[in-house]
Amino acid sequence: MASGTLSRQDALSCVGCRHACHILLYADTEAQLFEETPIRHILLMQMRFDGLLGFPGGFVDPSVETLEDGLSRELWEELGFSLSVTVDDHVNSCHTPSSSQLVAHFYARKMEEREIREVEKAAATTATDHGHEVMGMVRVPLYTLKGGRGLPNFLSHSFIGNCRCQLEDALLRFGLVPREELEMALQQAEQRRSQP
Ligand code: APR
Ligand code: MG
Repeated sequence: MASGTLSRQDALSCVGCRHACHILLYADTEAQLFEETPIRHILLMQMRFDGLLGFPGGFVDPSVETLEDGLSRELWEELGFSLSVTVDDHVNSCHTPSSSQLVAHFYARKMEEREIREVEKAAATTATDHGHEVMGMVRVPLYTLKGGRGLPNFLSHSFIGNCRCQLEDALLRFGLVPREELEMALQQAEQRRSQP
């Protein structure tokens, strides 16, 4: 287990903690940008009501429902899509930097490209949270073009909680971006953020 992370069981035994569950939905794709740059994978994130980027999901009270049932409920509200999350989808859990009393549980599910398109469609049409808690779904650009266009610019935006770390970890864990490319993109993102 990576440093700073807790097992699902240890996280659940935290007395007085609140729990938040979020998920990365992703798929492989053959699509190309401008008919020359492979897009490689589709990763879904969302623009939240507070103007920050995050993953779909939310607060779950484990005394009322399991973490996975709660996350499935949140996905129905935020995406308008029925997805039964299971313990097998769990990636890691950790105390958030903002509050040691809030535990963030991270999940990931690989889907077919067709299913991801259905999620995007439902999120913009039938999801009850659309236009309220969720301003829209976004795909993460995984390529780097000249001038930091693509992943470096994306990483320079602002993210909720430790969700940027969750994204970086997932990119490496699931082999979605080579490590050197990610490290380069992070450096470029940092430069962009520090520009006056
Ligand atoms: N990593 C760590 N913490 C996170 C992450 C993340 N990836 N994503 C969200 N959080 C924290 C944030 O502090 C957030 O407020 O978990 C909290 C719950 O996640 P949300 O998705 O915002 O919760 P949700 O239940 O969907 O929405 C409730 O309504 O009352 C407001 O501000 C409240 O954000 C909350 C929202
Ligand atoms: Mg939410």
